[in-house]
Amino acid sequence: MIYESHIFKSKVNSVVSVGIAYQLCYGGVNHPLNVFEATCCLQRGHYLHRKKAFLAKRRQETRGASVHMKSGLGNLWFYLSQIYEQVPRVYDKGSEAVSLWQVRRWRMEVFKLPLKRGDLILDAGSGKGAMSDLLRRFGADTVMLDASLNMLAQGNGDRVQGVFERLPFRKGVFDHVVMGFSLHASIDYGLTLGNLRKSLKSGGRIFIVSIGRPSSRVKYALCLAYFEFVVPLLALLSTGKEFPLFSGLKTIYQNNPENELVRCQLDEFFETLEFKEMALGTVFKYVGVVAASSSQQRSPLSRRSPWI
Ligand SMILES: C[S@@+](CC[C@H](N)C(=O)[O-])C[C@H]1O[C@@H](n2cnc3c(N)ncnc32)[C@H](O)[C@@H]1O
Repeated sequence: MIYESHIFKSKVNSVVSVGIAYQLCYGGVNHPLNVFEATCCLQRGHYLHRKKAFLAKRRQETRGASVHMKSGLGNLWFYLSQIYEQVPRVYDKGSEAVSLWQVRRWRMEVFKLPLKRGDLILDAGSGKGAMSDLLRRFGADTVMLDASLNMLAQGNGDRVQGVFERLPFRKGVFDHVVMGFSLHASIDYGLTLGNLRKSLKSGGRIFIVSIGRPSSRVKYALCLAYFEFVVPLLALLSTGKEFPLFSGLKTIYQNNPENELVRCQLDEFFETLEFKEMALGTVFKYVGVVAASSSQQRSPLSRRSPWI
């Protein structure tokens, strides 16, 4: 069954309403107080301090040139969300090929979570449900959440259309959250991570595998060349004339914050258990836990109805 979250039911077109809210809060990606800084301002002081230190180091490296950082696609999300609506038919073939057949292996890392049969798991940015399919085979209950109706339409089980930045779930209902190649596609990392943390039970874990951005310039340039020249070729060979749909990967890669910075941001919301770069830093894997002190646990009865 596909559930529509309340923002999608509103009279105003949901995407536009999220967009307007986003513009009002942050003034878009071109505003001097960019997304990253705005998000940071809402968070604790020591994070700002770490970010300042990071930027100071970067400024030294760039000989004083001003450095702007952001985390999240911002306005670009509206362009990429149209691609996600068109890609489902060729998504599996294309993503296998452009990852050199590694994508399944990276997703399988999710089995390092301490899973138990019957766990309720949120698959955030589920797409067609690649992560959910793996987890269900293990006996977990999953709820798939995605912004794209066309992606969800090709999945099975409980599915809800919604955005990370405004989750339609109660607090503290999920045992774990998994994000398979979807964090990099969010509008705003800070809002996304904050909301996902709220939806987790105390002691619940988050597993993320995502496109990253290496800090080393040499690695960055090499991987950019891969996205520019190799990805279109592999997409052409695997999906035929649909290959331009995979051009969004380069846009995502170029707009990603550096892995070091994402790690800082993740540390702010979760206790980090593992952060590992793979494929020269173009992919990273993260496992974090909600510390017991930040308990928001609800009665077991709420398991039956995770949404508001
Ligand atoms: C690359 S696909 C990943 C699909 C699947 N998890 C996998 O492992 O293959 C990214 C998905 O994230 C969804 N997405 C991107 N931004 C989102 C947001 N802000 N809220 C909800 N879903 C989002 C897209 O619609 C897309 O289906």
